[in-house]
Amino acid sequence: MLKGKIAIVTGGTRGIGYAIVEKYLENHATVILCGSRQETADKAVAKLKEAHPGCPVEGIAPDLTDYASIKAAFDGVREKYGRIDILVNNAGMSSSDPLSAYTPELFHKVMSLNVDAVFYCIRAVYDAMEAQGSGCILNTSSMVSRYGQPKGVAYPTSKAAINGMTLSLARELGPLGIRVNAVDPASTATKMLRDFFAARGLELSAEAIGRMTGTPSLLTEDEVGTAICHLVQWEDPAPVGRNYLLRFREDCENLNRQGRDGHVYPGTAQ
Ligand SMILES: NC(=O)c1ccc[n+]([C@@H]2O[C@H](COP(=O)([O-])OP(=O)(O)OC[C@H]3O[C@@H](n4cnc5c(N)ncnc54)[C@H](OP(=O)(O)O)[C@@H]3O)[C@@H](O)[C@H]2O)c1
Repeated sequence: MLKGKIAIVTGGTRGIGYAIVEKYLENHATVILCGSRQETADKAVAKLKEAHPGCPVEGIAPDLTDYASIKAAFDGVREKYGRIDILVNNAGMSSSDPLSAYTPELFHKVMSLNVDAVFYCIRAVYDAMEAQGSGCILNTSSMVSRYGQPKGVAYPTSKAAINGMTLSLARELGPLGIRVNAVDPASTATKMLRDFFAARGLELSAEAIGRMTGTPSLLTEDEVGTAICHLVQWEDPAPVGRNYLLRFREDCENLNRQGRDGHVYPGTAQ
């Protein structure tokens, strides 16, 4: 149960982020979701309120590439609710250009959202979490942070950077009661992945993914969202600085079971 918890979820308007928001609401958290525009944030909030009447959710749209914009927005959340318990850094973008077409501008654009913004958001919630002596930060990395991805070089690079940030801040902030972890999902059927396949003129399926990556797995947003929800429900002493690899449906289920019974199942945490 997340009753009384205040959670900020970036990239909460659709895909994995939207599934995380839904799971948090079902577990009675208050959720502030971030979109790239106020319009998309409002649309997601309206959809959630229709599905879960009266649920405590609101939408904001700070510029995630600008620290001042994030700080002002998150300070507003802290002022309104008095605390910030959970931050999920989930907003992200991908690109599939080959190196021959990859421009420095595109490289910086991907790194700016996938890496700089994660640092900015963590920095912006730090004061609140440090004062509380508690907090839970979850970063959505990716399986490609471990195995690489031919074409679209900035994306796996950015996710590998997130793994380094996760491990470093986990060690620094763990003693303060702030847990920092990451999940590394395999291919998940969201708009990002559909665009990736469309750009290559391919049909999205587990088999097609298997041919491309060697892992014939296609997760659903709900499976990943549920696993990420269970990860924040663990009470102290909870693990910090783990990268949870979600390759197959079983990995999501193991993480859920682990959240319930505390037993560490093989193959996920690294
Ligand atoms: N799908 C996969 O196979 C997969 C696998 C592993 C990891 N991941 C990671 O999981 C996370 C979510 O991916 P997804 O597949 O759910 O993506 P998605 O469906 O494309 O959704 C992306 C989310 O990020 C937000 N966003 C995009 N650009 C933004 C910007 N410039 N500023 C602020 N917000 C922005 C979008 O908000 P708006 O709707 O408001 O634009 C949306 O909420 C990403 O970090 C991704 O790298 C995905």
